[in-house]
Amino acid sequence: ETAEKGGYEHFMLKEIFEQPRAYRDTMSPRIDGNRVVLPDVGLTADIIRGIRRIHIVACGTASHAGLVGKSVIEQLTRIPVETDVASEYRYRDPIITSDTLVIVVSQSGETADTLAALREAKRQGARVLAVTNVVGSSVAREADHVILTMAGPEIAVASTKAYTTMLIAFYLLGLYMAQTLETVTPAYVADTLAAMQKLPEQVEALLGKADLMKKVAEQFKTTENLFFIGRGLDYAAVVEGSLKLKEISYIHSEAYAAGELKHGTLALITEGTPVIALATQEALFEKTLSNIVEVKARGAVVLGIANEGHTELSKTANETLYIPRTLPLLTPALAAVPLQLLAYYTSLARGNDVDKPRNLAKSVTVE
Ligand code: G6P
Repeated sequence: ETAEKGGYEHFMLKEIFEQPRAYRDTMSPRIDGNRVVLPDVGLTADIIRGIRRIHIVACGTASHAGLVGKSVIEQLTRIPVETDVASEYRYRDPIITSDTLVIVVSQSGETADTLAALREAKRQGARVLAVTNVVGSSVAREADHVILTMAGPEIAVASTKAYTTMLIAFYLLGLYMAQTLETVTPAYVADTLAAMQKLPEQVEALLGKADLMKKVAEQFKTTENLFFIGRGLDYAAVVEGSLKLKEISYIHSEAYAAGELKHGTLALITEGTPVIALATQEALFEKTLSNIVEVKARGAVVLGIANEGHTELSKTANETLYIPRTLPLLTPALAAVPLQLLAYYTSLARGNDVDKPRNLAKSVTVE
């Protein structure tokens, strides 16, 4: 096992550091010059033109990748997308028609609820596309179309590189559909792909700032409650950041859309409550900043995360992390990294079993 960890103390840390490679492996076979190619997926132009609605169905971390996927696909294609956790989807009598594309997302491809949702969608006549990390998994075998993430085996229960490569898969899928439907220009596709190809080195840069996350983890390790806030894609990203932290640190953690704070959660912010505020969406930066001011006024200790250049954040937040500049659509693929590191170091600081958190399993094959 020591050899498999490749010199890292835990599988989770190894898997976090493998992300630049995993991003490259997931995108490079699918980028041909200025266009996305999805060889072997079988999504023809006719099929794409016939899709009227999309459902993204998954569990846990994979469902959080789906939240980002929803924004990406809707923004790029203007096709309406709903997201569901698989255990709810099956029982809520969703409206599934033959022009519905159901996207199931599953690292293992074996999650019982996700597999059952796939079967139900097919039974009702939907076309099913699977995003999975495991070739030949049940989900991969039963879906009509498969996009494989190339994360490589993920051992730690807390998912890291599988999640971020799911995001890459959604960017590729969204762009592929959009270039077919011509809902974006070829120049837009080219610019987005160029920005995507910079992500691996930008992730490297963030990994180089791991010590800051270690320091923040030391500050937050004794807390009992912690809050994450963000707007738009930042909200989707912090929902996953919060899950990561609670899974392995056992700290009660919640993610809120920053604008919702005033409708209840603000009552829980008292002197010393840690708040992690993600503010990478340029169009929403000022709004999130005003939420940071609000929580600070109630005594919160804030870790603010924003794009490079927003030095005004340092005047408000107690700690600040700047992430490299990319397109707004792509920031979740960068913001994930410091949030993973924060969860890792907090778990470590609390003396927990990082790779095997209590009560949780890597793959849940029973309902
Ligand atoms: C378990 C794991 C999670 C994972 C979820 C869905 O709960 O602990 O990390 O996100 O299952 O797994 P899947 O393999 O379907 O992505």
